[in-house]
Amino acid sequence: MRLLLAAVLAAASTLCALGASQTPIVIETDNTALVYTVGNDGRLYQQYLGKRLLDPADYDAAPRGPEAYITAGMEDYYTPALAIKHADGNPSTLLTFKGMKVTEPQPGQRTTVITLTDEKYGDTVDLVFDAFSATDVIKAHSVITNGEKKPLALREYSSAMLHFDRPDYYLTQYNGNWASEARQSEPQRLAFGKKVLDTKLGARAAMFLSPFFTLGLDTPAAETSGDVLVGTLGWTGNFSTTFEVDHQGRLRLVSGINPEASTLKLAAGEKFQTPEFIFTFSDKGTGQASRNLHRWARDYQLHNGNQERMTILNNWEATGCDFDEQKLISILADAKDLGVDLFLLDDGWFGNKYPRSDDHQGLGDWDVTHSKLPNGIGRLTQAADSIGVKFGIWIEPEMVNPRSELYEKHPNWVIQLPNREPYYFRNQMVLDLSNPKVQDFVFSVVDDLMTQNPEIASMKWDCNSPITNIYSQYEGDQDRLYVDYTRGLYNVLERVRQKYPDLDMMMCSGGGGRCDYEGLKYFDHFWASDNTDPEERIYIQWGMSQVFPPKTLCSHVTSWDHQASMKFRTDVALMGKLGFDLKVSDMTDSDKAYARAAVKAHRELAPAISDGDFFRLYSPYDGDHAAWQMLSRDGSLGVVEAFDLHPRYGQRRPILRLQGLDPAARYELQEILRADTSEGPAKTYSGDYLMTVGLPLFTGSELSSRVYRLRRK
Ligand code: DGJ
Repeated sequence: MRLLLAAVLAAASTLCALGASQTPIVIETDNTALVYTVGNDGRLYQQYLGKRLLDPADYDAAPRGPEAYITAGMEDYYTPALAIKHADGNPSTLLTFKGMKVTEPQPGQRTTVITLTDEKYGDTVDLVFDAFSATDVIKAHSVITNGEKKPLALREYSSAMLHFDRPDYYLTQYNGNWASEARQSEPQRLAFGKKVLDTKLGARAAMFLSPFFTLGLDTPAAETSGDVLVGTLGWTGNFSTTFEVDHQGRLRLVSGINPEASTLKLAAGEKFQTPEFIFTFSDKGTGQASRNLHRWARDYQLHNGNQERMTILNNWEATGCDFDEQKLISILADAKDLGVDLFLLDDGWFGNKYPRSDDHQGLGDWDVTHSKLPNGIGRLTQAADSIGVKFGIWIEPEMVNPRSELYEKHPNWVIQLPNREPYYFRNQMVLDLSNPKVQDFVFSVVDDLMTQNPEIASMKWDCNSPITNIYSQYEGDQDRLYVDYTRGLYNVLERVRQKYPDLDMMMCSGGGGRCDYEGLKYFDHFWASDNTDPEERIYIQWGMSQVFPPKTLCSHVTSWDHQASMKFRTDVALMGKLGFDLKVSDMTDSDKAYARAAVKAHRELAPAISDGDFFRLYSPYDGDHAAWQMLSRDGSLGVVEAFDLHPRYGQRRPILRLQGLDPAARYELQEILRADTSEGPAKTYSGDYLMTVGLPLFTGSELSSRVYRLRRK
């Protein structure tokens, strides 16, 4: 039966409706399998999760695991995937298999929908799995339908539940704060009980914790070996991922929207679709897992994933809100001088009754400040055009300062508690995106700018506050607010993308407070952190690279660390979406020359840097150095970057072994972008040598860096 099913799927790739019990359901990618089976009791069980086996018949021999999507109120005493309080008050749900359907929505993607139902109440749950064969990525979500005649209460509604039965589990998390985003923790051994990675911050949801993790199975996760699962939730709001080890040493992973303060009432017939939990399993360590996610993101998820990104000059670090037309026009000329594609005007260009001279006022009033820019944005786009750079602009449309005309006109558009003194984060409040009128307003911020200035090529969409004072003046049911806020945001972004599919957009949240794959369906890249000290950035980019491809990581050269050379600062930023945010007028000629050369090199090396595979060669957490390598998808062009942080006198320098090369091929390795922008001598090695023996690319100097180009001969 199983072989027959596999044959049907392979041949037809269309639709297959099954109702038979005990039919194994095999969700496979090129190297991974997730297998379910229906028991004699009609319930769905997880049979297998891990490396794909050569013969699918072998999955049968695997010991049957726990129920796939465990429901509250039945025999299980740990964290459920689903908790429903039915209209009659019954807090239990019993799900049995009803049928399944397999489709192939696009080449390389196979979607399996397993439908479960509670026969007594009529509610259904569709477990949806999108398997991407070439990249070994699986997305999982559920759709819960109220089949009762009255409303039910959804108390837990996870996107996915996965089970593991291994000797040991080690969890690595990525947490931090403003300016210290995505710090990688030591792998923590999970023992009996629960570890929950969650956020309740609402809008700036990932300020303290990035929504992704690495799970080492059997042993702590390593870069090039061992079984690991890397996962992340695509949800630009409160998330929660629970890791719970039970009394038998089995681990369950439950991921979804954080249900805290968000019990959802579903009306009769209403459906609720959870966000996507995205994961990849690798038996070759975290490096392979990250590359799987990077390729998948560019090919299937990221907005304009396979298109080029623009290099940029931003003015936030250089001017703050203190600028006028003249100053900006001269910065436009600086952008041209550096050779970047785009100038982006940051915060401070709007507000007249309350001009935005700092972060205390004006947010919400999106009319250009006449005293600063008497000829409007139009004069700037004209100047950009005649200088020969593109023009972009900053907005923060979800937020409002209480000192603004918007707040004066629409105090009821703001999320704020009755009978309490408001608590302001960065002197601002969050607009209530659950309200369709507010959604219209937020859309109009983009739409008005674009209608009046169609030349705008890019927007930086900021979001500096978590949701404070959580209470909606629009919602009848306060428990819906966190979820409806995020959905309201998606409604707006959907409209923006329908009308402006080619507008380049940066997701920003006071640094990297928003970094998730649902957001990246709409945004081309994101601002990883306000911390642009190059040494700190190595850690931040290292953390973000676990899940996100380099082309999504906006990496700007600034003056945060004057001690570090221009070369070191630029080399760190070269790995991502390169940009600059400093006073170009203060730069020395040689620094400018280096910046220009780096911009040019970044463009020439784009097949490796932006669209290639990323290899983390040496972790900054392991000592006083860091290194990474990028390799074009066809393997012909590569970049290796080696950074020395604070090596001690006489300290032994690690040898760097490259990765992902063809052992039989020969490669020319040449240092490029030396401090004076010159290139070093080229040497030729076999791929075998570079990967097996390696090269001494580190130095003993503090904050020094080297960039190498690799060309397959
Ligand atoms: C926070 C962002 O992270 C910065 O880059 C800058 O845009 C400021 N907001 C502006 O207020």
